Amino acid sequence: MQETFYIKVYGCQMNVYDAKNIIGTMERHGFVRTIDPKSADILILYTCNIRENAARKVFSAIGMLKSNRTKVVAIGGCVAQAEKEEIFKKSKIVNIVFGPHVYHKLPDYIHLILNGEQSKIIDVSIEKFNKFKETQDKNNNVSFSEFVTIQEGCDNFCSYCVVPYTRGREYSRAAKDIILDIKRLIANGTKEIILLGQNVNSYNGEAAYINIGASSNWKLDRLLYEIAGIDGIKRLRYTTSHPKDMTVDLMMAHAKITVLAPFAHVPIQSGSDRILKLMNRGYTAIEYLDKLKTFQTVCPSMQFSSDFIVGFPTETLEDFGATVQIANVVKYTVSYAFKYSRRDSTLASKMDGQIPEHEKESRLEVLQNSLSQHQISRNNSLIGQVQWVLFDKCGKRKNQYIGKNAYMQSVVVECETNLIGEFKDILIESAGMNSVYGKVL
Ligand code: 5AD
Ligand code: SF4
Repeated sequence: MQETFYIKVYGCQMNVYDAKNIIGTMERHGFVRTIDPKSADILILYTCNIRENAARKVFSAIGMLKSNRTKVVAIGGCVAQAEKEEIFKKSKIVNIVFGPHVYHKLPDYIHLILNGEQSKIIDVSIEKFNKFKETQDKNNNVSFSEFVTIQEGCDNFCSYCVVPYTRGREYSRAAKDIILDIKRLIANGTKEIILLGQNVNSYNGEAAYINIGASSNWKLDRLLYEIAGIDGIKRLRYTTSHPKDMTVDLMMAHAKITVLAPFAHVPIQSGSDRILKLMNRGYTAIEYLDKLKTFQTVCPSMQFSSDFIVGFPTETLEDFGATVQIANVVKYTVSYAFKYSRRDSTLASKMDGQIPEHEKESRLEVLQNSLSQHQISRNNSLIGQVQWVLFDKCGKRKNQYIGKNAYMQSVVVECETNLIGEFKDILIESAGMNSVYGKVL
């Protein structure tokens, strides 16, 4: 009998990409996916450790998902990498703990548990490229929009962040492998490619073709030109960037490459120079703003999104005010604001001056109000314009479809024919806070 597995994913787009590869790997090894946890022999939780609430959810989920049928529980991803053996102490029913670099070995580990050869397995080793080999040239469930990891890990060590500890040191996949991957996806119907990396714009991968010369590692802009040249690609994006690695060459790529969205996620985190220094971000607020200004000079249609952290240790109301001010200057199209979360092994977790939870909450509310105002006015400014939209899901109402324009704004339409996976020109007629509404032209 074939064993069934259920997978639950938490966290960022890279986790979504990893999970898709885990599903493909499991299916190629004869396991059958189910979307009902109670009918699964194997439970896989692929976890996120970036903030405390994301990590906490995992342990309560195990209790809810398990049933009489459960034979194997596997915890993977960043919580696994960070907590290692501790996970076995926190939850006795977990059998396998696997880090984000070794998911290609999961089927073997599951067999060892199912055969009774072992009862607990832990693998948090950092193997850099093997998991990608497992997924290459495999055409499982290719979608109209696909993530492709090109870079993983981070060397920046921002003082609040666990990523350098969970995803490890930074490495880039070879350009040749990435291009082969993308060609295969596009040949199988993909229209939109989203390049992923924890610090994607510091991409520095081995050149694509041997005859290009020995010393020629490619930067992100070079890779983007090559990908844009692949016949059939309709839209190209990348995320997430670090401001310090936003080079003029990369900005130029946005101006020159038609399929590259004129949009970049450039997280500022804080508007206070004192806090930016404590965060180890490597830029001042003015340097950041100058970069965005240059970007808009080079490519006038550019718009930006950002992440913000409020309540970093020692953040005063003045520091916080500087963050709100930056948000008001840039007028981001989309933004993500978070309360600072104290994470083990990071420098900031040991800093004095931790801010009380209720204070973080009230600052978050103030910032979010400001960010929402700008989001609404950006949405309003689309009324009367035609936007090119890729539809990726159904709305709540009958015949309603939701998609994204180049700037990651949600566009809602009603249509008699199925629009999922289709690019359409949409005339925008009205706007709300989180979406704009229009009709198919
Ligand atoms: N607390 C709150 N937010 C965090 N982020 C990363 N680490 C933390 C933390 N300890 C946010 C940053 C980052 C985004 C992915 O998550 O804003 O850009
Ligand atoms: Fe974390 Fe900073 Fe690296 Fe981003 S750049 S993953 S915030 S350490």
